Amino acid sequence: MMRRDERQLNQLIAVLARDRDLPDEQMLELLAWPCEAESVRAAGPACDADAALYREADRVRREVYGDAVYLRGLIELTNHCKNNCYYCGIRRGNTGLARYRLDQETILRCCREGYGLGYRTFVLQGGEDPYYNDEVMCGIVSAIHEEFPDCAVTLSLGERSRESYQRLFDAGARRYLLRHEAASEELYRQLHPPGMLLENRLQCLFDLKEIGYQVGAGLMVGAPGQKAEHLLEDLHFLQRLQPDMIGIGPFLRHADTPFRDRPNGSMRMTLRLLAILRLMFPYALLPSTTALGTIDPQGRELGLQAGANVVMPNLSPAEVREQYALYDNKICTGEESAQCRTCLETRVASAGYRIVTDIGDVKREGVKRDDP
Ligand code: 5AD
Ligand code: FES
Repeated sequence: MMRRDERQLNQLIAVLARDRDLPDEQMLELLAWPCEAESVRAAGPACDADAALYREADRVRREVYGDAVYLRGLIELTNHCKNNCYYCGIRRGNTGLARYRLDQETILRCCREGYGLGYRTFVLQGGEDPYYNDEVMCGIVSAIHEEFPDCAVTLSLGERSRESYQRLFDAGARRYLLRHEAASEELYRQLHPPGMLLENRLQCLFDLKEIGYQVGAGLMVGAPGQKAEHLLEDLHFLQRLQPDMIGIGPFLRHADTPFRDRPNGSMRMTLRLLAILRLMFPYALLPSTTALGTIDPQGRELGLQAGANVVMPNLSPAEVREQYALYDNKICTGEESAQCRTCLETRVASAGYRIVTDIGDVKREGVKRDDP
């Protein structure tokens, strides 16, 4: 006989899958659903609740994306940043860090290497570094676009003006990742110094969408002070934004930040939220993040099994990887690009999926799988 609470849980999951939503009370219940074991091991999910949720998320992802996992080659442009976010290892206030910038030729070399390894999307990510003004950045974007016309250029350079986003779009960028970090005003203020405003960040995301970018938002799970109610606000915001991509990973402490003593986010909660996101946004691109792979050696595999369908291996030059430390113990800093590529191939296959090397645009509802 099924236990009563198990029936209740299955009911929640079924309604979430059917409606792509749950009433707030029930969503909170699901987010906070108790679990006997605290850690998820390679052997599988921590408890039946999670197992049932992952199963449903995997069913939905296979319905839309099959077993495909998309590759994005991540190039970490610069670890200079004018901001001072309390959680981030490359914050301005961290004076113990050797800073670097990649020039256009180095970036193009990374792209060439990546192209040879099968990458068809390059993600240029960096701190908010005034050196990469529109002129410099447009030069880089159009050079990549010209040399690799069959590839997508994704940018992840933080908050810029609408005009700047438009210029970069005109230069050939088509996707932009900007995690909203927290949709709750209260939590956003606990994570950022006074000069940073949630309102500006959200405006950036809506501007990017209007310009025509495929847009990625996202957040850290278990960020200091974050409660289930905050996550609920994040879900509501994501429903309003309807992003193409949603990047989530556990918060991980960095020794040289104000949050050095705060506990890391948990893998279980990250996986649970990933599965919920897959059920709410069947068409979204959901990366199984480096942070997830850092908190547990099997984290990225489990992420894929909980609904994720994107991996973002590192394509940065080996010499600078160590310096792009957003949090402690980040994986892949000692590896070459080719090693990360092979490593992920094996990991994705072991999780039961298949890496595809096409450009990997988001799929939209009502559009058949094979349509261009
Ligand atoms: N732990 C986990 N993720 C972090 N990020 C920044 N610092 C940390 C940290 N300490 C995430 C932020 C940012 C993305 C590039 O990396 O969400 O948007
Ligand atoms: Fe970089 Fe595994 S992905 S070594």
